[in-house]
Amino acid sequence: MADFIIARAAHILAVLMWIGGVGFVTLVLFPSIRRSTRKEERLAAFHKFEGRFAPQAAVWVLLAGASGLWMTWRADLWSRFGDLQYWWMHAMVVIWLVFAAMLFVIEPLFLHRRLRTSRDPAHLFERMERLHRILLALSLITVLGAVAGSHGWVW
Ligand code: HEM
Repeated sequence: MADFIIARAAHILAVLMWIGGVGFVTLVLFPSIRRSTRKEERLAAFHKFEGRFAPQAAVWVLLAGASGLWMTWRADLWSRFGDLQYWWMHAMVVIWLVFAAMLFVIEPLFLHRRLRTSRDPAHLFERMERLHRILLALSLITVLGAVAGSHGWVW
């Protein structure tokens, strides 16, 4: 099944660039803005940098979703969603849905306006940093579970 192998390679590439980018934003960008910028200006600084990552992340999220669905369909893995032993399959889909909702719905429809007009940008910046930490932690747990699970680890 050459196409399954290609889809797996594309899946890993997409996850690497996407979650790696989330790791950089969370562990490098947020702390460095926090240390170098005055409270009220942090949100604007973050918005400027994040604006370069978001369109790239959108491409990687689409590729991860398409390749993941392809593998599920080709190898007929749907029954895994009925088995809690494959919790990491559910986790992948949930993480994907959260990021897709953020990138394609919440950010363009609500967040851009909120970022420009917020009356308390310092508080919003803190909330966004916390949210990124939580999402990064859940994504990394999912990556660990998916790699171990798809190579035979049984929980
Ligand atoms: C709609 C969303 C997704 C679907 C349908 C999906 C589906 C799949 C499938 C079918 C596999 C192969 C499992 C196997 O070989 O037994 C896989 C592997 C994997 N997925 Fe996903 N996935 C999705 C999203 C994600 C996300 C968001 C992440 C990371 C947070 C992720 C990380 C991985 C990893 C690390 C592997 C293991 C690859 C390996 O070690 O060979 N996937 N995924």
